[in-house]
Amino acid sequence: MPTVHANNIDIAYNDQGSGDIPIVLVHGFPLDKGMWEPQVKALSGEFRIITPDLRGHGESQVTQGPYTMELLADDLNGFLDALNLQQVVLGGFSMGGYAVFSFYRKYPERVNSLMLLDTRPQPDSEDGKKGREDMAQLAEREGAGPIAERLIPRLLSPNTVANRQDVVNTVNAMITNCPVEGIAGDLRGMALRGDSSDLLSKINVPTLIVVGDQDAITPPAESQSMASIISNATLVEVSGAGHISNLENPDEFNQAIHDFLHHH
Ligand code: MLT
Repeated sequence: MPTVHANNIDIAYNDQGSGDIPIVLVHGFPLDKGMWEPQVKALSGEFRIITPDLRGHGESQVTQGPYTMELLADDLNGFLDALNLQQVVLGGFSMGGYAVFSFYRKYPERVNSLMLLDTRPQPDSEDGKKGREDMAQLAEREGAGPIAERLIPRLLSPNTVANRQDVVNTVNAMITNCPVEGIAGDLRGMALRGDSSDLLSKINVPTLIVVGDQDAITPPAESQSMASIISNATLVEVSGAGHISNLENPDEFNQAIHDFLHHH
């Protein structure tokens, strides 16, 4: 797996296919670039798909947290520099989307178009912030196992949990392989994130919004609301999918990305 040095850390990534404007897909919490496997398979015949591991995840370097969304945005900016990419189609899943909002605020000139995937602009509530700290401490005390147990029923739809053991296993493996510093760094960084709602009306690039119709973490209503504010937005609701809609229903998810990339 190739690695580049960017923003003072080593960032591992996968880079497949070719095309004029590369597509960079940013994974969520507490996952890694492996979450994009069905997209890389389906789309890299036509497009160049680049999937980095965020700091503290997958094969990228681990640092002490908190990983603020601004820090992750700076990592991505350094990553694009290291790969010599001026402009990209930038997609972020959930926490990856929070980082993409920060990136768009700081480096809008590098964004050809946006994909906001099972994500939302609002910060955490006070209760939510407390829950993040509790979970960070649980990870530090007991490791990633209990984090996977707690998250999987929220990340995936009940039907996926009951009937798609392959998807459950994939997600479980990503979470249990995630370094504890990465889990805690994300949680404390997400708790610190600001509100990106004001940014929505300023987004002036074509934007694809995708959400699982049973997403319990970033529900469809949030995506509908983003689609009504962003001036050039396309909204796709993926059927029979919870939060990790790209793994739960890859066919519909990939079709949405495919159609978007062909129209812009
Ligand atoms: C994610 O999928 O990245 C996280 O679940 C997002 C969150 O907890 O807010």
